[in-house]
Amino acid sequence: MSEEKVTTDIITLTRHVLDEQRKHKEASGDLTLLLNTIQLGCKFVATNVRKARLLNLVGLAGGATNISGDEQKKLDVISNEIFVNALRSSGKVAVMVSEEDDEAIIVEDGLKGKYCVVFDPLDGSSNIDAGVNVGTIFGIYRVREDSTGTVEDVLRPGREMVIAGYCMYGSSANLVISLGNGVNGYTLDNSIGEFILTHPNIKIPPRGKIYSVNEGNASFWYPACTEYFNSLKFPPSGKNPYSARYIGSMVADVHRTLLYGGIFAYPADKKSKNGKLRLLYECFPMAFLVEQAGGQATTGTTRVLDIVPTQIHARAPIFLGSKDDVEDLKNVYAKHS
Ligand code: AHG
Ligand code: MN
Ligand code: MN
Ligand code: MN
Repeated sequence: MSEEKVTTDIITLTRHVLDEQRKHKEASGDLTLLLNTIQLGCKFVATNVRKARLLNLVGLAGGATNISGDEQKKLDVISNEIFVNALRSSGKVAVMVSEEDDEAIIVEDGLKGKYCVVFDPLDGSSNIDAGVNVGTIFGIYRVREDSTGTVEDVLRPGREMVIAGYCMYGSSANLVISLGNGVNGYTLDNSIGEFILTHPNIKIPPRGKIYSVNEGNASFWYPACTEYFNSLKFPPSGKNPYSARYIGSMVADVHRTLLYGGIFAYPADKKSKNGKLRLLYECFPMAFLVEQAGGQATTGTTRVLDIVPTQIHARAPIFLGSKDDVEDLKNVYAKHS
């Protein structure tokens, strides 16, 4: 029987980030400490998600809803508290925006740092009771030069983020992150409590064979949207139709799109004029990651990362994925404009 080779030179997320920063001369202990705080939050949420059923953490949080109108699950609230407390106590954060808090949180002097973190503490929470993959999504801005840290520091285009990432909680915890120089994926080794580099330099295939959209909204779609998805389902003779995959957790749908290619969408339609996904802490981080992996992210007519948010819970339409698939989508929308 062949002996399992023991890896004695493990590349943890912390070590990898420090190596990357040394390469790009951005060594800043603050960023590394902030990322350690985010890793702590992800490990804590991963544990609670895994034990949710055992700890009776599934179900609604007493009927509360957030400002987006989502019914809050118990795990939405717990995950949010975990991240808010960890980020505040890190001393590296000036401003926080969470899906689960109506207003931006401005950290008190004494603990205020130089980064702004926008996050969706638990994405896909409608799936939690069924044990389907959920996740955390985050984006980080550096506070603007002359600012002490106000909500204006996060009402900026997503292209000004310095870090974007998500952690997907499934059979294992997978953290996917970009510091602006490519995308890397790490898997949590529960036995040592470290995220280990398992997916170095993720690149999205230039074209895929999968489309991912909630077809239950098809009766509300604008003509350009209908025309595009029909072109995938009823291709010219000789070409194979695309496969449909839709999990309903953005993190899981985007993770699959990043690794396999294809297109994920939450379009604007007659019912939801700006789509459903929130710009700051869902669309921006995922658009940042997909672009860093060689893909594209558009509203249909505008690059998502160029949008200037007007308020912290603004929504935006999004099509993201393989560069050629998204290019085809843009061409159909251009024809209808
Ligand atoms: P959240 O659970 O953070 O509120 O996000 C849910 C989002 C996103 O995860 C997913 O892509 C989308 O809702 C699914 O919406 P539909 O059920 O309308 O398709
Ligand atoms: Mn929600
Ligand atoms: Mn979400
Ligand atoms: Mn959420």
